[in-house]
Amino acid sequence: MTTAQDPSATAPEQAEREEELLRRVLSSFDECRDERLKRLTQALVRHLHAFLREVRLTEDEWGKAIEFLTATGDITDDKRQEFVLLSDVLGASMQTIAMNNEAHGDATEATVFGPFFVDGSPEIERGGDLSFGASGEPCWVEGTVTDTTGQPLAGARIEVWEADAEGRYDVQYDDARTAARAHLYTDHNGHYRFWGITPTPYPIPDDGPVGSMLKAVGRSPMRASHLHFLVTHAGHRRLVTHIFVRGDRNLGSDSVFGVKDSLVKNFEQQKPGTPTPDGRDLGQQTWSKVRFDIVLAPAGT
Ligand code: BEZ
Ligand code: FE
Repeated sequence: MTTAQDPSATAPEQAEREEELLRRVLSSFDECRDERLKRLTQALVRHLHAFLREVRLTEDEWGKAIEFLTATGDITDDKRQEFVLLSDVLGASMQTIAMNNEAHGDATEATVFGPFFVDGSPEIERGGDLSFGASGEPCWVEGTVTDTTGQPLAGARIEVWEADAEGRYDVQYDDARTAARAHLYTDHNGHYRFWGITPTPYPIPDDGPVGSMLKAVGRSPMRASHLHFLVTHAGHRRLVTHIFVRGDRNLGSDSVFGVKDSLVKNFEQQKPGTPTPDGRDLGQQTWSKVRFDIVLAPAGT
């Protein structure tokens, strides 16, 4: 069926003008000696023109798009990356991650990196507490790191970071605190364990153009509750992932499309006074526990 917005519905002489322009733009890249760059730029032009012609973009809409991209650039600095956020909410980040972290045996799936990782986190002992005073319910996290044949990986480095109970990362406060982030290493059996905070949902930074776009289209800025992991071990593919909380109502509408079924875990809620795995005295506080067994693909897969 043709619609008013279908380029094939335009008069033949008009369609020919549009196609002639597209041919000229495409051929302007013909002499590019870098084959990959040529492929990328020509495909970009083809898809961009197909989009413009499909929606019959008006000049007013073109102006609005330029304003939107300008605002996206204006708010971007060394702390805030609105272009990455735009890529995230359009699913472009997750599509790129999916293509570049191909399924390999039962290797753990990857998901978005997000803007709140910080290099140089404190090291904690196995069983240590990464909250460093951040608000939130204590959460015991334990598991193993193995390769895809089931061999334990000793000395794997595990970076963990998360938002506090107010839904904010340490770097979103003005006081230079370091909290709710740390790294630790697996033992000789590939085991790890630590105390973190039970994850709670929070919005992506939504006070900029990306937030305005989500509002205009009626989409939620909320991320499903999660705990970030970055796991590295020599000879294995670097894994950037999260675990999500089963039962969280934001799982189906995560604003950056980061949720994978395999990453949704049971965070078992514990009553006040329930003995903790390491004998820590939490008084009358509730706490939770979760198990996350991590499988790394070989490097180069
Ligand atoms: C996050 O998980 O922290 C995040 C990921 C993508 C965009 C914004 C925030
Ligand atoms: Fe996050």
